[in-house]
Amino acid sequence: MPSSLDNWYHTIDLGDGQVSNGYWDHRTIVDCYGIPESLAGKTALDVGTADGFWAFELERRGADRVVAIDVDTHADFDWLPGRMPPNAADHRMKANFEIAHERFGSKVEHRTCNVYDLSPETVGTFDVVFCGSLLLHLMNPLKALVNIRSVVKEVAIIESLAEPGLDAIPDVPLLRFGHSDSETVPGEGGIYWRFGRRALEEMLIYAGFARVEIMPPFRMPPNDMEAIAIHGYPEPPAPPPPEPRPSLLKRIVGPRRRTRQGT
Ligand SMILES: C[S@@+](CC[C@H](N)C(=O)[O-])C[C@H]1O[C@@H](n2cnc3c(N)ncnc32)[C@H](O)[C@@H]1O
Repeated sequence: MPSSLDNWYHTIDLGDGQVSNGYWDHRTIVDCYGIPESLAGKTALDVGTADGFWAFELERRGADRVVAIDVDTHADFDWLPGRMPPNAADHRMKANFEIAHERFGSKVEHRTCNVYDLSPETVGTFDVVFCGSLLLHLMNPLKALVNIRSVVKEVAIIESLAEPGLDAIPDVPLLRFGHSDSETVPGEGGIYWRFGRRALEEMLIYAGFARVEIMPPFRMPPNDMEAIAIHGYPEPPAPPPPEPRPSLLKRIVGPRRRTRQGT
C-alpha cells in the first residue's frame, strides 16, 4: 500500500523520524540560493511551490507572511499539443503541501495561481519572491520574470538548471532549447530550456530588474545536475555616501599647519 510519504516532489523532514520520499532533496543545498538568513519583518512569495519545501524554509527564516502559489493540476502545465499525460488533470498538487503544513503548524497561505496571472492585483506585492526550477518548464519564461518583477519590492531569488557550456563564449547570453537527448518523444517532459548565467542575467534585466547578482553554481542532489541562483533587485545600488566637505574656514585659509611649538 502506498504510504503518505511516497510520491513527493520534495524531500521534507516532517519530524518524528518521518521524511517524505521526495524526488529532489534540497536539504544540503539550502544555502546555495543566497536567501537572507533572517526574514524577520518581511513578506515572501514562493512561486511554483510544489510540496512547499521552500515556502516552509522562508517561514522558518522568520518571514511575517508567506504566500505559496502553484497551478492546480498537472494539466495546467505548459504542455505542447498532444504531450499532456492522460491522467494529468487527476494529479492534484496540493495534498503533500497540506500534510507538511499541518505537521509544521505552518501559517503559509497556499493559493492556486498561474505565474502568467501573477500581478500586484492578483496576489499583492512582497519583499522577497522565490522561484525555483520553474522557468525551464515554461513556454514563456520572460513573461514569467516580468510578472515576478511586478510583485517584488526588495529581491527576487530565481533558480534554474544551468548548462555550464553555455557560458563558454564570454558575454553572449545563450539558452539551450529542448531535452530531446533524454526524451523518447520530443517535449514529453514539458522541459524546454537550459540557461547560461549570462542569459539569466540578461533576461532579468529585460524583465525590469535594475541590477542582478549571480550566486556560485552548485549541484542539485540526487542526480548532480548543475543549477544557478540569481538575485534580481528592482532598485539600483544605493549611491556611495558623499565625501565630507571641508569646513568653510579650511576652504578659505587651507589646512592648518603644525608649527615647531606644536600648535
Ligand atoms: C520543478 S517544480 C519546482 C518546485 C520548487 N519551486 C523548487 O524549486 O523546488 C515546478 C513547480 O512549478 C509549478 N508550475 C508549473 N507550471 C506553473 C505555472 N505556469 N505557474 C505556476 N506554477 C507552475 C509546478 O506545479 C511545480 O510545483
